[in-house]
Amino acid sequence: MQANIGLSDKVSQQIATLLNKLLADEFLLYTKTRNCHWNYEGDNFMEMHKFFEAQYEELADVVDDVAERIRKIGHFAEGRLKEYLNLTQLKEQPITSDQQKQVKHLLGDHETIIRSVRKSIDEVADNLKDAGTADFLTGVMEVHEKMAWMLRSYLK
Ligand SMILES: [Fe+2]
Repeated sequence: MQANIGLSDKVSQQIATLLNKLLADEFLLYTKTRNCHWNYEGDNFMEMHKFFEAQYEELADVVDDVAERIRKIGHFAEGRLKEYLNLTQLKEQPITSDQQKQVKHLLGDHETIIRSVRKSIDEVADNLKDAGTADFLTGVMEVHEKMAWMLRSYLK
C-alpha cells in the first residue's frame, strides 16, 4: 500500500535510490569489518578481535535502520548481495591480518561514507525537503564520525 506522507512519488523514489546506495555501502563495510575481526593476527589479538566486533555490531544496527527508513518512505530495501556490489562505492581489498592495513582500509571507507552522507543531507533537506530523512542521515553520519575517530586512534 502507498505511503501517504507528503512526499511526491518522484521525491520518495529519489530518496529511496539514495538510501539504497547507502545501504549497499553500509552492508559492505559491515562485512569488511567482520573480515578484520576474523583475520587479525598480533599480540593484541583479543583487543582487536573485540574492537572490530563492537564496530560491526554497530554497523549491523545502521544497516537495519537504513533499510527500515526506506520502508518508512514506502519503498523496498535492497537485500541482494549482487546488487550491493553494483550499488556500492566501496572496494574490497585482499584479506590481510595486518592491523595497520586493516584499520586504514576501514577508516578510509568510513570517511568515504561520511563525505557522501554529508552531501546527501544537504540534497535531501534543501532540494527534496524531507526533514525526517535529513535528520536520520545526520544521526548516521555521527555514528560513522565516532567509529572513524576510534579507528584513527590506532594510527600514528
Ligand atoms: Fe566472532
